[in-house]
Amino acid sequence: MIAYTTFRKGRIRYSDEGEGRVIVLLHGFPLNLKIWEEFSAALSKHFRVIAIDLPGFGESESIGYFHSMELMAQCVHEVMRKLNLRRYIIAGHSMGGYAALAFGELFPENIRGLIMFHSTSYQDSPEKKLERDRSVENIKKRTKTFLKATTVNLFANPKDEYIKKVREIVSKNSVRGMVEATEGMKDRKDREIILRFSEYPVLFIYGRHDRILPIEKMLPQTEIPRDTETLLLEDAGHVGFYEAKEECLNAIIKFANRCFRMPVV
Ligand code: MLT
Repeated sequence: MIAYTTFRKGRIRYSDEGEGRVIVLLHGFPLNLKIWEEFSAALSKHFRVIAIDLPGFGESESIGYFHSMELMAQCVHEVMRKLNLRRYIIAGHSMGGYAALAFGELFPENIRGLIMFHSTSYQDSPEKKLERDRSVENIKKRTKTFLKATTVNLFANPKDEYIKKVREIVSKNSVRGMVEATEGMKDRKDREIILRFSEYPVLFIYGRHDRILPIEKMLPQTEIPRDTETLLLEDAGHVGFYEAKEECLNAIIKFANRCFRMPVV
């Protein structure tokens, strides 16, 4: 079921499927909740799955002119509060993982498990910040070219079927939403400390051929949480939920069942 709610007077779209224990799915940049369609259909046979369009993406409106990861986290919290849901697993894809870590800082008592799906706790390097400035220029002046390059970069082996789906999704983006989120990602702080002191289990999922978050830079942080698991996808890039769907689903179902069995502290 697709539904709408509000956050700071802006419309927010989310999907709500299945029953029982809750998993929240947060999409990456420049995507929206549609990216989870197949994945969420499969997961919702086991759990209640809520996927949210982060502000400025899909059918969610922009809130102000700068989308910090904290603002995204507050939006997620508000959607969940309105649904009367208090304890859940959050799975964040890339930018969604940055927002999930900000959520971990602001609302740790709501989290039963965290899935960093092709994501990182590290902040942008000085080079990456400069690249963000170039991205903002490209988003504004060469939107189509920017989106085309971004789409292809997501995959280890771009398959027509998935490229088509992602093109359709990114074509719905507003320039404003993409700029606001890019500025928000550039500004985000390092959140290694959230991983270090998390009182819930953390599952990292990485793709061997990720062109956006290179695996060798990502792996060291998988050692940080007290209770940690890592799934390394040998044949995937930045979108394991497409390129290695079954492997990801199996790992997430196992991880979620373990988290939900743990006593609430
Ligand atoms: C994403 O996939 O969400 C973004 O590419 C992440 C980033 O640019 O840091």
